[in-house]
Amino acid sequence: MMDKIKFHLLSMLLIMHCFMVGFARSKTVTNLTNDQSALLEIKDQIIDPHNFLDSNWSTNSSVCHWIGVSCSARHGRVTVLDLSDMDLTGTIAPHLGNLSFLVSLNLSGNNLHGYLPKEMAKLHRLKLIDLSQNSFNGEIPVWFGNLTTLKVVYLGGNSFQGEIPWEIGNLLALETLSVQDAWLITGPIPASIFNISSLKEIYLINNSLSGGISNDMCQHLQKLELLNIYLNEFSGPFSSNIGECSNLQELILSSNQFSGFIPTSIGNLTKLKTVYLGEKDLEGVIPWEVGNLLSLETFVVENMSLNGQIPASIFNISSLKTVFLYNNSLSGSLPDNMCSHLHKLEVLDLTYNGIFGHIPSNIGECSSLRSVSIYGNRFTELIPTNMGNLTRLKHMYLSHNDLEGEIPWEIGNLITLEIFSASDLLLRGLIPSSIFNISSLK
Ligand SMILES: *[C@@H]1O[C@H](CO)[C@@H](O)[C@H](O)[C@H]1NC(C)=O
Ligand SMILES: *[C@@H]1O[C@H](CO)[C@@H](O)[C@H](O)[C@H]1NC(C)=O
Ligand SMILES: *[C@@H]1O[C@H](CO)[C@@H](O)[C@H](O)[C@H]1NC(C)=O
Ligand SMILES: *[C@@H]1O[C@H](CO)[C@@H](O)[C@H](O)[C@H]1NC(C)=O
Ligand SMILES: *[C@@H]1O[C@H](CO)[C@@H](O)[C@H](O)[C@H]1NC(C)=O
Ligand SMILES: *[C@@H]1O[C@H](CO)[C@@H](O)[C@H](O)[C@H]1NC(C)=O
Ligand SMILES: *[C@@H]1O[C@H](CO)[C@@H](O)[C@H](O)[C@H]1NC(C)=O
Ligand SMILES: *[C@@H]1O[C@H](CO)[C@@H](O)[C@H](O)[C@H]1NC(C)=O
Ligand SMILES: *[C@@H]1O[C@H](CO)[C@@H](O)[C@H](O)[C@H]1NC(C)=O
Ligand SMILES: *[C@@H]1O[C@H](CO)[C@@H](O)[C@H](O)[C@H]1NC(C)=O
Ligand SMILES: *[C@@H]1O[C@H](CO)[C@@H](O)[C@H](O)[C@H]1NC(C)=O
Ligand SMILES: *[C@@H]1O[C@H](CO)[C@@H](O)[C@H](O)[C@H]1NC(C)=O
Repeated sequence: MMDKIKFHLLSMLLIMHCFMVGFARSKTVTNLTNDQSALLEIKDQIIDPHNFLDSNWSTNSSVCHWIGVSCSARHGRVTVLDLSDMDLTGTIAPHLGNLSFLVSLNLSGNNLHGYLPKEMAKLHRLKLIDLSQNSFNGEIPVWFGNLTTLKVVYLGGNSFQGEIPWEIGNLLALETLSVQDAWLITGPIPASIFNISSLKEIYLINNSLSGGISNDMCQHLQKLELLNIYLNEFSGPFSSNIGECSNLQELILSSNQFSGFIPTSIGNLTKLKTVYLGEKDLEGVIPWEVGNLLSLETFVVENMSLNGQIPASIFNISSLKTVFLYNNSLSGSLPDNMCSHLHKLEVLDLTYNGIFGHIPSNIGECSSLRSVSIYGNRFTELIPTNMGNLTRLKHMYLSHNDLEGEIPWEIGNLITLEIFSASDLLLRGLIPSSIFNISSLK
């Protein structure tokens, strides 16, 4: 009796199991079929000159094996669509919004155009979207703010126009925002973006963005590592509280219209590796606090009206590789032991300033130097013989100064030298014949 009941129970369980498996499978199949029909609709609106998709996206094989498509192991649904660099033209079908498991969408490097269909707002699992280097039109849609799982957004190199929508500030998981090479993108950076505390990288290079940068910008951006707004029309003073973005490693602000001073709080950004500043209207001095940036590798401060002395604290930064202070009004003289800590320095460019005094006598200790320019300053006295220790030097520009005496014989030690410029100085004597042994000279 018991056995019979057990048997009935068992077979019932078995039947239920079969039913459930079958049901689950048919559901997956249905959904995969949905993914397939969505992809085929997408393909239908695309012109594919190299036939990447033509024979490959064929219904006799699973979409999961199609080129540019990946599926999740668990649900067998399409999670990745990567059609980058395929030279595709055409538009995006609204059916893209049906790929409801999509996590990553990369369409970069094609020639796709038209408006982005609003159905894309349904992709509520999307973490990465790269639409860069296409010809998409219209405004950057406000529904981007609905894609709240997004971590990485690349929109540059399109024909998008108008302002960056305020709703981008709803993307509270966003780590990377990149809008680059889009001249039709105008207006300010919406302040809502500075509320996204997950942000690590902001690239807004070469657009027509304008307005000021709020003083509270950094309040919530404790994770920000990179801010690059090169080549826009931003104006006003730069945020005096930039020092609160305490994780910044790269700060690139060149080619805007900022005015005022370099904020001293920059000295709090002790993780900074790269600084580019270059605005006609920045004035004042290079703050002494820059010398606190003991990870700094690249310091480029060009075409501004900076005056005063180069703070000696900078020459304490042994990580420095590039110091580029081209075309300012810097004066004062360089410390005689300038190179004691600068063993990694490869480029020193002081062109067009008003620096005077002698060339530091320990210049030879800057032993990694490849390029040095003091062109267009007021240096005096002799060219130090110690220059001859710069055996990696390729470019040496000394012209337009008041250097005097003879060209040291040791110049012949610079066996990698390609360019030697020493015109309009007060030199005398013979050109040392050692220089003619340098076969690399151009
Ligand atoms: C299958 O699609 C339906 C609607 O089309 C949806 O409700 C369901 O969650 C999907 N199932 C899976 C496993 O994706
Ligand atoms: C499509 O391309 C993928 C990747 O190149 C390849 O593995 C697959 O076999 C192709 N499928 C067909 C039907 O050509
Ligand atoms: C799918 O069908 C096409 C022709 O329609 C054929 O060329 C291709 O080899 C088939 N692929 C597979 C994986 O069966
Ligand atoms: C897919 O998307 C289209 C257009 O957005 C819609 O008309 C259609 O109902 C969707 N299909 C499925 C199976 O969800
Ligand atoms: C998209 O694909 C291109 C080309 O393969 C790649 O260089 C780029 O890094 C991808 N985008 C993202 C955000 O990963
Ligand atoms: C975006 O989300 C808002 C609020 O949830 C909703 O009203 C709107 O319809 C969504 N937009 C799209 C295009 O789905
Ligand atoms: C800036 O972007 C425009 C397209 O909007 C492009 O034509 C131009 O070459 C870019 N300039 C630089 C310096 O990259
Ligand atoms: C930033 O977030 C706070 C709290 O969520 C909110 O009150 C404030 O309005 C937001 N600011 C901006 C500029 O979006
Ligand atoms: C910079 O750091 C100092 C000392 O830690 C602190 O007193 C000051 O408020 C900081 N300034 C900014 C703008 O973060
Ligand atoms: C600085 O000026 C030089 C010469 O005028 C120019 O070539 C360079 O692009 C300028 N740099 C910036 C960042 O504006
Ligand atoms: C350079 O660093 C040393 C040791 O940290 C310090 O004593 C000295 O004052 C610094 N010099 C300058 C000019 O900042
Ligand atoms: C420069 O090189 C000479 C040998 O050519 C050496 O005696 C001298 O110590 C070096 N000076 C420095 C500062 O490295």
